[in-house]
Amino acid sequence: DWTPQHILDELIAGVQEQVGSEGRVLLGISGGVDSSTLALLLSRAVGDRLTAVFVDHGLLRLNEREQVETALRGAGVNVVTVDAREEFMHHLDGVSDPEQKRKIIGREFIRVFDRETEKYGPFEFLAQGTLYPDVIESAGGEGAANIKSHHNVGGLPEDLAFKLVEPFRTLFKDEVREIAKLLGLPDDIRMRHPFPGPGLAIRCLGAITEEKLDILRRVDDIFISGLREFGLYDQCSQALAVLTPIQSVGVMGDERTYSYTVALRAVTTGDFMTAEWARLPYEFLGTMSNRIVNQVHEVNRVVYDITGKPPATIEWE
Ligand code: XMP
Repeated sequence: DWTPQHILDELIAGVQEQVGSEGRVLLGISGGVDSSTLALLLSRAVGDRLTAVFVDHGLLRLNEREQVETALRGAGVNVVTVDAREEFMHHLDGVSDPEQKRKIIGREFIRVFDRETEKYGPFEFLAQGTLYPDVIESAGGEGAANIKSHHNVGGLPEDLAFKLVEPFRTLFKDEVREIAKLLGLPDDIRMRHPFPGPGLAIRCLGAITEEKLDILRRVDDIFISGLREFGLYDQCSQALAVLTPIQSVGVMGDERTYSYTVALRAVTTGDFMTAEWARLPYEFLGTMSNRIVNQVHEVNRVVYDITGKPPATIEWE
C-alpha cells in the first residue's frame, strides 16, 4: 500500500543510490511546482551537493523570483540566481513574431544556463522534473525543467557531460503535488497554474518593451491575486492576462484617454489539449475590471476571452 510518504522515501533513496556520496547535481528551477518540488527532494537527498540555478529572464510575474528563492532558500536549498534580464531584453528587441520569440528565449536560456553553471561546476549529474506524461509524449513540461530537450532541439553535441536524474519519471502531477506537501512547499507554489517557459513574452503581443511588461505584470498580479482572494484560483486550470497592442479611446474625468486594452483569460481543462473558458462570475469580472483600470493607468479597457480551445489556444501567441 503506497502512501505519498513511501513514494517520497523511495525517491530519496533512489537519488542517493544513483548520485552516490560524492556526486554533484545541477538543477534548473523555473518557479513551477515540478522543479521546486524536485529542488526540495534533491536537497533532502544530497544536501549542498545540489546547486539549483534560477535564470531570471525578466519575463516572470510580479515577485515570482523572490517568492521561489525565499521558499527554497528557507528550506536550505542552495539556490543560485542569474540576473539575465538585460540580455534577454536585448535579444528580443524589436522581435514580434511569436515563434521567433520562443526560439530566441529557448536559445538564450541554454546559452546563459551553460555559461553560468560552468562557474559552479563541475557537475556529474543534471536533474530534471520530467513527469510520466512528458515521458510518453516526450514533450511539454516547464521551461527551465527541460534543459536536456532544449539541448537536443538546439542540436548541441549528443554526448552531454551529464547523467540525468529524473526521479519524477513515473509520477503524475497530482502525485508531485502530494510529495510537495510532505516536503513543505508553500501552497501558493504547490498549487500554482502552469506558466510557459517564454513567460510574459508571449502574453505581451508583438514586440516587447520594459514598459509593456511592467503594465502586464501589474494587471496579471491584480487578476491572479483576485482569483485567490475570491476562492476561484483552484477552480481554473490556468488563468492569465494578455496585453494587446490595441489602444482605444476612453475617458477619465474631463479628459479623453487613448490607452491599452488588456484581455483576461481563464480556462478549465484536464490535459491542456482542449479547454473551456472558465465561467467566472460577472461580479468577480466586474471587480477585476474596476481594479485594473483604477490601478493601472496605462489601461482603459478590459475584455474577457470567451473562446474555447479549439479553435483558440490558451495563450494568445
Ligand atoms: P496553448 O496556448 O498552446 O497552450 O493552448 C497549452 C499549454 O502550453 C503552455 N505553453 C507553453 N509552455 N513553452 C512552454 O513551456 C511554450 O512555448 C508554451 N506555449 C504554450 C500554455 O501556457 C498552456 O498551459
